[in-house]
Amino acid sequence: MNDTRRAVLDALAEGPVTGPALADRLDVSRAAVWKHVEALRDAGFDVDSVDDGYVLAGVPDYGGPAVELGLDAPFGVEYHDAVPSTNDRARELAADGARDVVVLADRQTGGRGRRGREWSSPSGGVWASLVLRPDLPPARVPLLTLAAAVAVTDAAREAGVDAAIKWPNDVVVPDEDSERGGRKLAGVLTEMEGEASQVSWVVVGTGVNVNVDPGDLEGDATSIRAEAGNVSRRVFVQRVLERFDELRADTDGVLDAWRERAATIGQRVRVDLGEETVEGEAVDVTEHGALVVDTGDSDGSDDDGSSERVVHSGDCQHLRPA
Ligand code: BTN
Repeated sequence: MNDTRRAVLDALAEGPVTGPALADRLDVSRAAVWKHVEALRDAGFDVDSVDDGYVLAGVPDYGGPAVELGLDAPFGVEYHDAVPSTNDRARELAADGARDVVVLADRQTGGRGRRGREWSSPSGGVWASLVLRPDLPPARVPLLTLAAAVAVTDAAREAGVDAAIKWPNDVVVPDEDSERGGRKLAGVLTEMEGEASQVSWVVVGTGVNVNVDPGDLEGDATSIRAEAGNVSRRVFVQRVLERFDELRADTDGVLDAWRERAATIGQRVRVDLGEETVEGEAVDVTEHGALVVDTGDSDGSDDDGSSERVVHSGDCQHLRPA
C-alpha cells in the first residue's frame, strides 16, 4: 500500500472525516481522496459515508492492506491469494533490492520446508516470508531464524496455545506421546545471500498452521484451530511481525528468549545428521543455532575430550527419559 493510501486508511479508522478535510490534511486533491476511498472499498474495507464524512466500519479478514492497518512494525505487505512459495517470491523481491517487505499468501502451491522437503500450505495458514537487509555478518543470521521461532511462539501463546520451540526451529505443542516430542505447529526456513563479512539479504520464511482444519494436517502436525479454535489471521500476523521487529532490534537478547521457550533443552534427544546419529542430553543452543548435546561419551565426542557434541543441522527426536 502506498503511503498516502495508508494515511487515508489511518484517518478513516479514526474518523469520521470529510473528504475536503482529508485532502487538506494529506495535501492531495479531493478527487485523489475519493480514488483512495474507492480503492480501499475494492480491497474489502467497509467505508461508510455519514453526515460527518467518511468512517471505517469494517476491515477485511485478511490481506495486505488489512495486515498493514494498525501494524506497529515497519513492514510493507505483498499479499497473494495463491503463490508457489512465498520464499521464492521474497527472493525475487530481495534480488530487486527490496527490504522490510513481507510476502503473505493465503495458500502456497509449492511450499518448501527444510532439507528440500515439501511444506503443505492449505488455505487458512499463515505463510509469510520477510525480506530483510540486516547489518549482520552471515554467522549471526541464525539469530534471525531463532527470533522468528520466538515471535511465532509468543503469538501462539497469546492465542491460547501451549507452544514451545523444538530445535532446530520448529514451534510445537509439547506432547510426550508424540513420537517426535510434540505436535508441529510451525516451521521456519531462512535463506540468504551475501559476502563473508556482510549479508546482502535474508529471507525468513515462516509457516504457521493457524486456521487449518485438523483433517488437512499431515503426520503429527497441529494447528491453532485444532488446539484453541479459530483466531484472526490478521492479528496473528501482526503480533508475529511486531514481536520479530522487537527481537531483531536487540539480537543480543534473542538467544536467551529462545532458551526460555525451548522444549528441547534438558531433553534426551536423538539427532539424525544423515551420515550419523547423535544421542544424549540437549544442554544448550549456540548463537549459530547449533544444538549442544552431551553424549556422556568423552571418547567418541569432540577433540577436546569433552562429551559434548555441537550439531548444526539435522532431524531431532525427543526421547523419553531413560
Ligand atoms: C520446516 O521445514 O520446518 C520449515 C517450513 C517453512 C515453511 C514456510 S511457509 C512460508 C515460506 N515459504 C515456503 O515455501 N516455505 C516457508
